[in-house]
Amino acid sequence: MNIILLGPPGAGKGTQATNLEERHGMLQLSTGDMLRETRKADTELGRQVADVMDSGGLVSDEIVSAMIDAKLGSMAADVGAIFDGYPRTQPQAHSLDEILEKHGRKLDHVIELEVNEDALVDRITGRFTCGKCGEGYHDRYKMPVADGVCDKCGSTEFKRRPDDNEETVRNRMQEYRAKTAPILPIYEERGIVSRVDGMASIDEVTASLDAILAQ
Ligand code: AP5
Repeated sequence: MNIILLGPPGAGKGTQATNLEERHGMLQLSTGDMLRETRKADTELGRQVADVMDSGGLVSDEIVSAMIDAKLGSMAADVGAIFDGYPRTQPQAHSLDEILEKHGRKLDHVIELEVNEDALVDRITGRFTCGKCGEGYHDRYKMPVADGVCDKCGSTEFKRRPDDNEETVRNRMQEYRAKTAPILPIYEERGIVSRVDGMASIDEVTASLDAILAQ
């Protein structure tokens, strides 16, 4: 099964993709994570990617589609893909169709996480992750059980994303409204769009996704 999780910054795509990976044996393909790896490199490309991400803009369609193509090419054919943060533009949506066909896959579900944008700034500016295993947390909604210790791996190092400040988040939301939301009709025409209330609790959203995947 191959699915797209769609929603604005902070909608819970990454959180739910991780849950689905564990529950359904699928693999999360996050272009955001791939680009964060790219920006770590001391290269011209790394610096260009960092500048775009820190402004809240979108990295070029060619770069992200090539990343998805390469990642799918390295995956076992029987492992499902969860596209998290891709596609984000109409050219990316068309590229994904070509990439899926090339790798003998088809798209089963596009799931939109519907959220109240006012709540998202709060979600994103409170977000932090374990510096070792990447487990996600939030200052108010999901703190580690033992203060300062990652639930998953026991590390005491945590980090915050440089693009998780209010100004950049507002730009990211504007990009979502202008460029990403308009791709939904492509999938609505195919009858594969489901909508989930992303304002429900993390567990409730996971249960809704499980129900869609069981269809
Ligand atoms: P990316 O990393 O994809 O960021 P994003 O889309 O802005 O999404 P986020 O990761 O911020 O949010 P999320 O929906 O995953 O929410 P999360 O689960 O973390 O992209 C970053 C940048 O990379 C882009 O701005 C762009 O520059 C570039 N980029 C990436 N892909 C690209 C592409 N395809 N094309 C071009 N450029 C691209 O949850 C957020 C917080 O809320 C967490 O703390 C979580 O614990 C909490 N939370 C989650 N769900 C709930 C809930 N139900 N209730 C309460 N709290 C919750």
